[in-house]
Amino acid sequence: MTSTLNPPATSTTVQVPTTRVDAIAKVTGQARYAAEYDLDRMAFGFIVQARIARGTIVAIEDAVALAMPGVLAVIDYRNAPRLSDAGDAELQLLQSERVYYRGEVVALVIAESSEQARAAAEALPISYAEADHDVLFRTDHPEIYTPEKVNPNFPSESSVGNVDGAFDAAEVRVQAWYSTPAEHNNPLEPHATTAQWDGDELTVYDSNQGASSVHSTLCKLFDLPRGRVHVRSEHVGGGFGSKGSARPTVVLAPMASKLLDRPVRVTMTRQQMFALVGYRTPTIQQVRLAADHTGRLHALDHLAYSQTSRIVEFAEQTAVMSRVMYATPNLRTRHRLLALDVPTPRWMRAPGEAPGSFALESAMDELAAELQLDPVELRIRNEPDFEPDGGRPFSSRNLVSCLLEGSDRFGWRERDPRPGIRRDGRWLLGTGVASSTYPARNAPSSCAITARADGSFEVRITAADLGTGARTALTQLAAESLGVGLADIELRIGDSDFGQAMIAGGSMGTASWGWAIDKAARQLRGQLDASGGAVPPEGLSVTSNTRAEIDAQADVVRHGFGAQFVEVAVDPRSGEVRVPRMLGVFAVGRIVNPTTARSQLIGGMTWGLSMALFEESIMDVEFGDYLNHDLAGYHVASNADVGAIEVAWVEEHDEQTNPTGIKGIGEIGIVGTAAAIANAVWHATGHRQRALPIRPDRILNSANAAG
Ligand code: MOS
Repeated sequence: MTSTLNPPATSTTVQVPTTRVDAIAKVTGQARYAAEYDLDRMAFGFIVQARIARGTIVAIEDAVALAMPGVLAVIDYRNAPRLSDAGDAELQLLQSERVYYRGEVVALVIAESSEQARAAAEALPISYAEADHDVLFRTDHPEIYTPEKVNPNFPSESSVGNVDGAFDAAEVRVQAWYSTPAEHNNPLEPHATTAQWDGDELTVYDSNQGASSVHSTLCKLFDLPRGRVHVRSEHVGGGFGSKGSARPTVVLAPMASKLLDRPVRVTMTRQQMFALVGYRTPTIQQVRLAADHTGRLHALDHLAYSQTSRIVEFAEQTAVMSRVMYATPNLRTRHRLLALDVPTPRWMRAPGEAPGSFALESAMDELAAELQLDPVELRIRNEPDFEPDGGRPFSSRNLVSCLLEGSDRFGWRERDPRPGIRRDGRWLLGTGVASSTYPARNAPSSCAITARADGSFEVRITAADLGTGARTALTQLAAESLGVGLADIELRIGDSDFGQAMIAGGSMGTASWGWAIDKAARQLRGQLDASGGAVPPEGLSVTSNTRAEIDAQADVVRHGFGAQFVEVAVDPRSGEVRVPRMLGVFAVGRIVNPTTARSQLIGGMTWGLSMALFEESIMDVEFGDYLNHDLAGYHVASNADVGAIEVAWVEEHDEQTNPTGIKGIGEIGIVGTAAAIANAVWHATGHRQRALPIRPDRILNSANAAG
């Protein structure tokens, strides 16, 4: 294996397990989050949400709220500052009397305290003219359509060869429908913004995944030049996609602050987040696989339905993963979309791949059973030399290494393939496997580094650390590229003043920022070398931007890969499923910080378990909303649900991903996990679970149906 990486010979920072550089600040409470900036004369806003699923506002009796203690103002569509278009219709808050979904923002009450604001918001009488709503996601809806593109910018449909012909002619076929429910993002820290105007200059402290992106949106919404808006998000308590773009608080707080000429903080409650920050679309998917008796695929056909709102088209890339996974001469993927009277679905960890892999990797297991072929072997037999859809080379692809390494570590080779025959008391036991993948993209970012006269370096980049450990990984990368120790680096992030940079999203953050840091560091080292290391008293600064390099990147397929192995125990009487053991082996480029990387991968796998067994937002079709709006009604896997999780990675040096060799690890951990669990449940019970989550009632029903 070769490498273009050329770290300084003295590097002792990257690939070394490193405790978070902000650990002390966090555990001592010194790290400040968006709702922890206490500004002079600050007022508090509380969001009022629509109580109909579709219609118009007829009257808002704001006098009732204004008469309550401490209330300063009620903002609604009649008196809200006008907003310009920022490319997201859902951010046009309080601009019209129309209501597009239950829970939409219809007013903001501002008061001297957050309690007063909330009391008045809850008492505010609003009457509506209600129209009929339609919130039922289904595949036979007359308004199902084919979007032109799916996220982030893929063609909606792809086709190679003749799938239908190959399917009809094949020796072995699998054809099944799979479904995944709507799921809601629940980062620890709810969305929050503290806003302050100084004349026509706006500063916001906001919880987001990228201050640059929020900065651009605010400039557009409020028609402000770039230099007049400052977005600070030094510490962020989770996002998972729900903070990947500006969300309502960062629009409402500046509006209210402008109107009152006081700083205003707007925070969301956990319950409000269920309507206002996006969620994972439900999916209904069909996968058809055809193979010969040796297990070589002749056709792969993946059809995916998902939903969007009537305001914004959000077309998730559910079937796109099937374009890269397995060699087959006939390959078709198609997406269908349905716009309903619901909030717009948004990104949620591995959007597309997470639900898409449940269908594809379940179907692969069904095919393996049909062929009486080991499911690991089936995947290895269909390993492609080139991208199956399009024929481009992979920058690196080590799925087979992950499957083999995982088989060894997990003890897979001793597995008896027959389903429904292992018992431990009341438990039926089974094991399952699935492949995983996630794109390894890079996005242009800029970075500034200042060499100080004392020999230390200040690195400034508009990166975000959502709790992932990005701040630590970037400090390690900067130290390596500059050839110094961690203690010589002061890394500053989460401030839009530092220039444009990628968000912490799409598993692209650390790779994209690391590249910009590396570029600036090399430039600075060159200048220092030329000057014999002399630094003027005021310091020596350089800035970088990676746009040119990224635009010039070769047209190859960049992906991380992985293999998920799980063991389950199923109680056929209660329907309970336990997951005592999980193993994930990943090929994800160079690992910067093994400590935080392991946490990221374990976190993703834990969420995969949660997705497989628990997470489900339940639509009340009459009412027009998801019913479970809190963590009592929406169960996220907790400690007691999780067994042993082991994570490993295979050595991978990818010359073409980017100069840092990083692929990104935030999302791949959740991909394939749910399929591995469903496949293990089949192995334990002999019954396929094609709908998530695998609830006890579904286990019991499948056993009953089979008699
Ligand atoms: Mo992540 S869903 O790409 O923010």
